[in-house]
Amino acid sequence: MKIDLIETPKHLGKKIDLFGWIDARRDHGKLIFFDLRDRSGKVQLVVTPENEELHKKAETLRPEWVIKASGEVKKRPQNMINEKEPCGKIEINVSKLEILSEAKTPPFDLSGDGYEIGEEMRMQYRYLDLRRARLMKNLIVRDKLILFIRNYLSNLGFVEIETPNLSKSTPEGARDYLVPSRLHPGNFYALPQSPQQYKQLLMAAGVEKYFQIARCFRDEDTRGDRQPEFTQLDLEVSFTTREEVIDLNEKLLIELVKKNYPEKIIQEIPFPRLSYKEAMEKYGIDRPDLRTDKNNPNLLSFCWIIDFPFFEITGEDKWTFTHNPFSAPMPEFMDDLLKQKNIGDIVAAQYDVVLNGFEIGGGSIRNHNPEALRAVFKIMGFSDERIEENFGHMLEAFSFGIPPHGGIAWGLDRLVTTLQNEPNIREVIAFPKTGDGRDLMMHAPSEVDPAQLAELGIEIKKSKKKK
Ligand code: AMO
Repeated sequence: MKIDLIETPKHLGKKIDLFGWIDARRDHGKLIFFDLRDRSGKVQLVVTPENEELHKKAETLRPEWVIKASGEVKKRPQNMINEKEPCGKIEINVSKLEILSEAKTPPFDLSGDGYEIGEEMRMQYRYLDLRRARLMKNLIVRDKLILFIRNYLSNLGFVEIETPNLSKSTPEGARDYLVPSRLHPGNFYALPQSPQQYKQLLMAAGVEKYFQIARCFRDEDTRGDRQPEFTQLDLEVSFTTREEVIDLNEKLLIELVKKNYPEKIIQEIPFPRLSYKEAMEKYGIDRPDLRTDKNNPNLLSFCWIIDFPFFEITGEDKWTFTHNPFSAPMPEFMDDLLKQKNIGDIVAAQYDVVLNGFEIGGGSIRNHNPEALRAVFKIMGFSDERIEENFGHMLEAFSFGIPPHGGIAWGLDRLVTTLQNEPNIREVIAFPKTGDGRDLMMHAPSEVDPAQLAELGIEIKKSKKKK
């Protein structure tokens, strides 16, 4: 297996094979120096003039060429040592060079952090953009955090279960992405806005402790902290309480920070809790940034927002849920919900977790009483037929013995963004969409072959077509 370049100093005095990309080349008289780069870091290669053929080959090398270099790992002369670089005390005295792939000149500089480069270019050549150390690190840290979460939850008896992406529309507040069915012309799957219904059905199945690193899809306007497809840590627990879910998540967040970001300070433990009303009165927002020093990149201020109103009036004078129709009311409001009275005062068993002013997660204790769930849909003005058609499967599932349950979902991209001090979630997603929902590298969305449309029984209105 290839040696990670950052491990090179361990092989001091030995002759080894190294693989990577040419990062930079410096000629000093007859000596040619290169930085060889891979995902782990950089190491300096030196080609001396003795071997003429080798020297000639070295002179042809250009940035981003992919090579194999063989040579001895040597200590650098004292005056060449760079204490700041992990491999700054050694260099490779190259005895053999093999060019594995030549490279065109990249369309933009890959050496810096890249913030100043136009986003369209970065997205079009994302595979080049990802070569820069900052983005490669974000990908690697993201993986480390996900692995940490998986291990932590697995140790507590949680089971990771995959749920379908070809599904039915879930009312999560955004527009659905629809997928036409070939076998059932005129019918559509919806990509899940979250695995909400499936995880509750897994509780009906008796799974008790579920989690998933889940991809979610929402057709909404993209912003700095929003992507049309994004990743949640989604979890659900049976026989639980709001206190237990909050406690579990708080401990997991604290451990995740302590183990992976020892340099960071959590401003307040236990995380402060504010009711929605308090947050709005004091800060005018339900995701306040409570940091005492906003210039300190290592300060993390978590808080919980609780006691959200269950319903709000929409523009058309109708009621809608503020978060999730599957939430339970706080127990003292169950009677009002069942009787559909004092609707505006009903408080939901909903909680959000906020980090430095970003909502990084939200969840609730669920409404497992089919009658009360039906009342929620009634308040929203749904007819019996519509309730049956959209949610009949949930109501039926709840009629076969359903444990009380609750859970949460974290916006994983948002969490990693804040922990990595990045300005937006596109910096921690390998292949994000642009602000207007396009993948400039793959050219998506795109027109499709008319034969594909015919097979699906779909016709495109010509007037809507872009020129
Ligand atoms: P909610 O809709 O609050 O809850 O989503 C949970 C968390 O996901 C993140 N998030 C997003 N991140 C990036 N791009 C988006 N477009 C986006 N939308 C949401 C946020 C948010 O807090 N099923 C419920 C969870 C539950 O009740 O268990 C749900 O999805 O950080």
